Amino acid sequence: MKFVRFLMKNAALANAPKHIEHFAKFSPSPLSMKQFLDFGSTNACEKTSFVFLRQELPVRLANIMKEINLLPDRLVSTPSFIILGPPGGIEGGGGGLTFKLSDPFFTEALVTIRNRHNDVVPTMDPVTNQNVQYFLDRFYMSRISIRMLINQHTLIFNGTTNPAHPNTIGSIDPQCDVSEVVRDAYESAKMLCDQYYLGSPELEIEEINANTLRQAIRIVYVPSHLYHMLFELFKNAMRATIENYEGSRSLDPIKVMVALGGEDLTIKMSDKGGGVPLRKIERLFSYMYSTAPTPQLNDKHRAPLAGFGYGLPISRLYAQYFQGDLKLYSMEGYGTDAVIYLKALSTDSIEKLPVYNKSAWRHYKVNQEADDWCVPSKEPLDMASLRATK
Ligand SMILES: Nc1ncnc2c1ncn2[C@@H]1O[C@H](COP(=O)(O)OP(=O)(O)OP(=O)(O)O)[C@@H](O)[C@H]1O
Ligand SMILES: [Mg+2]
Repeated sequence: MKFVRFLMKNAALANAPKHIEHFAKFSPSPLSMKQFLDFGSTNACEKTSFVFLRQELPVRLANIMKEINLLPDRLVSTPSFIILGPPGGIEGGGGGLTFKLSDPFFTEALVTIRNRHNDVVPTMDPVTNQNVQYFLDRFYMSRISIRMLINQHTLIFNGTTNPAHPNTIGSIDPQCDVSEVVRDAYESAKMLCDQYYLGSPELEIEEINANTLRQAIRIVYVPSHLYHMLFELFKNAMRATIENYEGSRSLDPIKVMVALGGEDLTIKMSDKGGGVPLRKIERLFSYMYSTAPTPQLNDKHRAPLAGFGYGLPISRLYAQYFQGDLKLYSMEGYGTDAVIYLKALSTDSIEKLPVYNKSAWRHYKVNQEADDWCVPSKEPLDMASLRATK
């Protein structure tokens, strides 16, 4: 607990402008999967880890806090935004500074901001919208990384091993069985789906291990991150499959293919849920974009199947955190393939972290320039009159 108190104090210090200025001068230091494992090896030293975190946590925090100040004034001056603190795990008050952040709270704050803004102009202008999206991607990535560091330290140095998973090092499984995580995530999503729709699509898994045949595909990874991504993708695929279902035929299964190559570990989830037009694909990764009704936050007994609009953007960040990615390929009228790319080799799995610098600054400050592609006219061209003017 001494450690957590220390972190809180440090986090609170980082909130003071002077300390933000100091720590923001440093760039965050991304850790590789190997470094994470070394911190957890038998001869790991708690002191070394502590000394590293004492510098690294305030640096990561200060870097992202500099960006909060670059958001449009009317966003930043909203009271909910001012108390935007560090991610969960180091919540609490310190030195009279308010530190509070939980997801529903934060989401609620943003929805309020968005709605208030909507009263001023009918829709958030594209530049503000783009800045908010850019900021949130970086803010949540920073949050994922800070939680990862704190989790590793507390799990490794609390002196106990996880009886269910004795081989894990903190939250990392050096032998993570990918298909097992796929099945776990499927079962959880299926439970929710059955509650809502009284039915759910079946799962079909196929594994292709290009390295060694007949062996389960295993990688060094954080199973909880992989589970999170797959759970979100399954919920989406199930919802689409059922909403697109026509009574005459049986419910199409969701097919998952796991392939391991020399560089990539790829997981493709295919549904026949009717797909999404290409024009809308990027929009699905916008925070709070959802085609489902807004879920009731106070309903503690039933987790919603959809409706926050956070599923895809946060899952993509988890994939990108260790240099992977998440993409959607859709065929409108048929279905969607969601693909998770991860690094097959732990030497390639290195944290991807935002850094506050001139290019980040430019993102917020430089006005969107005019498009360098012609905007097609909505009106059909009158060829005869065109010829007449030439
Ligand atoms: N496989 C899919 N097929 C068709 N549409 C999809 C699919 N996956 C996502 N979508 C569309 O993308 C939107 C955004 O998905 P996302 O997972 O980010 O949010 P959500 O499912 O609406 O809410 P939640 O945050 O609870 O997951 C969905 O509302 C849906 O309209
Ligand atoms: Mg979803």
